[in-house]
Order: sequence, then structure tokens, then C-alpha cells
Amino acid sequence: MKPIIRAMRGDDIPNIVYNDRRILGQSLGEETLSSELAENQFTRFFVMEDALTQRFLGHIGVWIDVPLASILNFYVVPEEQHKGLGSNLMDFILDFLKKAGVNTLTLEVRQSNEIAKAMYRQYGFSFVSIRKNYYSDGENADLMLKNL
Ligand SMILES: CC(C)(COP(=O)(O)OP(=O)(O)OC[C@H]1O[C@@H](n2cnc3c(N)ncnc32)[C@H](O)[C@@H]1OP(=O)(O)O)[C@@H](O)C(=O)NCCC(=O)NCCS
Repeated sequence: MKPIIRAMRGDDIPNIVYNDRRILGQSLGEETLSSELAENQFTRFFVMEDALTQRFLGHIGVWIDVPLASILNFYVVPEEQHKGLGSNLMDFILDFLKKAGVNTLTLEVRQSNEIAKAMYRQYGFSFVSIRKNYYSDGENADLMLKNL
């Protein structure tokens, strides 16, 4: 399986919303994502897919206001997790952000999400603070930060 990472297109949106909901339990929804894609110069969304079959493998979205950036969305489809694809996406976005002039990257992660937190720590993110009731179900988020 050879993955490629490309900019998200309008015709990806229904699939992204479906996967946002099944993997993260929430999504911005089709309308908001369409206007983000068309009008918001501060956001960039990417799709990872199989180079041969175009099968969808994962997604990452960032908000950028140089020198700051924040990860909005990040996942790999459950069937393909823990095979290095999330690291591919993270390596890609760190390189992309560095080239864009970003020096400070933050993200929020559910406090219960030990797998993602382990990965972020491996990538040099450190805990900054707790964001109380950050998610719609009331769970707190850990705010994490990495200097690029
Ligand atoms: C977090 C996520 C994107 C990582 O993607 P992935 O393709 O599984 O990641 P990789 O295979 O590149 O592994 C990277 C690290 O993640 C952690 N990890 C991934 N899967 C894991 C598992 N099943 N158990 C424990 N740690 C795991 C490990 O720290 C791993 O590093 P290691 O291989 O050196 O142990 C993926 O698990 C995912 O999509 N999770 C659901 C959505 C989510 O939580 N997104 C983040 C929201 S903030």
C-alpha cells in the first residue's frame, strides 16, 4: 500500500464528514467544511489515500496564522491504524508548517485518548493546560504544544 497526501477537495467532503463522525464522534458538517475550504485562508485540510486505489486512509486539518498553527482534525481509518500512517501524516504536516514559517504548534486532545497523547509526546508535544468541557459530551481536553 503506497499512501499519498494531497489537498482536500470539495468532492471529499461527504467522506470526511462520515469519517469525522465515526472516528472522532463529531464533525464540522458539510456546509461548514465547504465554506472553510472555499473561503477560510487560515485553514488547510489534507487527505491521505492509497496511491493505486485512491482508498481513503486518513485526514489532517490545520489552522495557520504564522508563526502560530493548530491541529484541528487528525485521524487514520480504524482498519489501518498503528501501521505508521499517522506518523506519515504528522511528518508531512510538521514539514509543511515549518516551510510556511510556523514556529509554535498546538492541539487539543481528549484526556482519555492515551494512544494519541502517547504519539504526541513522542513527537515532542508537551502538556500546557486543561481545557474544561472542551468536547460536546463534556470531556476535558489537554492542550499540548510543540515548538517547530
Ligand atoms: C492517533 C492516530 C492518528 C495515530 O495514527 P496511527 O496510524 O495509528 O499511528 P502510527 O502507527 O504512526 O503510530 C504512532 C504512535 O501512535 C501510538 N499508537 C498508535 N496506535 C497505537 C495502539 N494501538 N496502541 C498504543 N499506541 C498506539 C504509538 O505511540 C505509536 O508509536 P509507536 O509505533 O512508536 O509505538 C490514530 O490512532 C487515530 O486515528 N486515532 C483515532 C482518532 C484520534 O484519536 N485522533 C487524534 C485526535 S486528537
